[in-house]
Amino acid sequence: MLAEKKITVGITGGIAVFKAAQLVSSLKAGGFEVNVIMTRSAQEFVKPITFQVLSGNSVRTELFDPMRGVVQHIELATHPDLIVIAPATANVLGKVANGIADDLLTTVIMAASCPVLFCPAMNVNMYNNAVVQRNIATLRELGYEFVEPGTGRLACGVAGRGRLADLELIIEKIKSLVSPCRDMEGLTVMVTAGPTVEPIDPVRYITNRSTGKMGYAVAGAAAGRGAKTLLISGPTVLKPPDGVELINVETAAQMYEAVMKRYPDVDIVVKTAAVADYRPKDASSQKLKKHEGPLSLALVRNPDILAELGGKKNKQVLVGFAAETSDLEKNSLQKVTGKNLDFLVANDITQAGAGFGSDTNIVKFVYPDGAVKQMPLMDKTVLARRILDEALALRRKRE
Ligand code: CTP
Repeated sequence: MLAEKKITVGITGGIAVFKAAQLVSSLKAGGFEVNVIMTRSAQEFVKPITFQVLSGNSVRTELFDPMRGVVQHIELATHPDLIVIAPATANVLGKVANGIADDLLTTVIMAASCPVLFCPAMNVNMYNNAVVQRNIATLRELGYEFVEPGTGRLACGVAGRGRLADLELIIEKIKSLVSPCRDMEGLTVMVTAGPTVEPIDPVRYITNRSTGKMGYAVAGAAAGRGAKTLLISGPTVLKPPDGVELINVETAAQMYEAVMKRYPDVDIVVKTAAVADYRPKDASSQKLKKHEGPLSLALVRNPDILAELGGKKNKQVLVGFAAETSDLEKNSLQKVTGKNLDFLVANDITQAGAGFGSDTNIVKFVYPDGAVKQMPLMDKTVLARRILDEALALRRKRE
């Protein structure tokens, strides 16, 4: 199937160009038809001949190439199933985010009708620069795909975030974009996402920092794989993924109702929601007025939705999430066994690149028998797929 898939690899000028050679070679060996476009700066690092040999196709470098005709960028933009920019420099991200098309690669990206995947690689300070981060956020919002860089020793000698992501992660993402598999058809997946909000009065509420990104990524991945997908979401600013049934809730009590109602018909539950453990005892129907001295707010426990699902579990696979700031494995093991889960995605939110609001996560899968699988830093969309792979394998064992 992959033999029919055409990938254009755009190579921009960073030291990670040498890793792009391995990427092109692996894609070719994996059965893809690979075409390469190099920018001028990329050619300062490696000559086009390297990529010509590895891809088996001539490498394009010039926008105005009389030998190939003047509209080659349109042909190059409509031909592939996916365009991958690896490495993607701060410069190319900035150009595309701001509508600049001044060379062959950026012109092809501008005219592309297929998904475009950026794999940034650059110095840590460049990567953290607010302008670069703003451009990445803009591109993500516009629907461009990303495999975020990894952390480690960079070519400039410093350690930090900025090295090209592991090729394995890039190839996994490429495969998911070009040949979405439908291996969850016939299954129903329920995902809870976002925070809950617990009213104090008509104006104020208690909530938490969850943005819903992880849950929306899981729901999108499940729907993409053919599962009937219910997304029960607290308030977020995110656009719901295509193909999911969205049920909006605000409080933990409303989430509880919605989850319990649908639970009997569900095969897999992924509970990413950050449910408030407590709510104000008596939410006031009138706005509270300030007065002299401190104010005490009495809180009462909310139901633990996941623990109740665990108690009622029969065929369902239950996946929980936990955000921890200390004793990650010990606390996670207690939760996975205490709530009768199949596994728990444990997240040390003190680590850079993990936790709320970030597009990436660093987690461990913790199992009831005490086994622990450490996952590398990865994009939440890639992690979403790993979680579903694991849940699906457990579900199949239960058939
Ligand atoms: N959860 C739930 N209902 C609650 C609280 C949590 O369903 N009232 C779920 C969450 O969706 C998540 C998991 O349970 O999947 C988190 O477990 P929990 O023990 O609540 O984790 P923390 O909130 O991190 O626990 P603690 O505050 O005790 O550390």
